[in-house]
Amino acid sequence: MKEDTLIIIKPDAFSKELVGRIISELEEVGLKIFGCRQVRLSKGEAKEFYREHRGKEFYEAVSDFMSSNPILVMVFSGENAVSRARKIMGGTDPRDAEEGTIRKRWAQDYRHNIIHGSDSLTSAKREIKFFFPGGEGIYWWKKKEFKL
Ligand code: TYD
Ligand code: MG
Repeated sequence: MKEDTLIIIKPDAFSKELVGRIISELEEVGLKIFGCRQVRLSKGEAKEFYREHRGKEFYEAVSDFMSSNPILVMVFSGENAVSRARKIMGGTDPRDAEEGTIRKRWAQDYRHNIIHGSDSLTSAKREIKFFFPGGEGIYWWKKKEFKL
């Protein structure tokens, strides 16, 4: 099934100059970019984005990290985009992530883990709406099956 998923290139990917490589890894498996914007979240916005984690010991720290610098938020679309992107990313903690995944190769630790990807279709819908309310900024060719 064709799906949309929300990907975030986190601040540590910028400082490690990995932004292009990460985008390439997703494009190379046939996922297509439909939305893309650079955002600097406030701490409050980061907390809202990660609200499912409210009350957990890492909630404040991850919200600080995600609002510390600009991030790149992207909508990728394709067959089973949600689970395929998660597989390429690897597990949250790089120590447990599968060999060859983005987080295994480049994440520094549990918190500074380079990339976010929606964990389900329900999350993807909420997260895409969070950053692209009303679908603004989503490429118009998506609806028209535009091809060059
Ligand atoms: P989570 O949604 O569990 O992971 P994922 O990004 O793989 O979906 O957690 C959200 C982010 O919170 C995670 O990417 C990094 C941070 N985090 C920590 O800093 N410490 C932790 O123990 C966990 C579970 C997450
Ligand atoms: Mg998650």
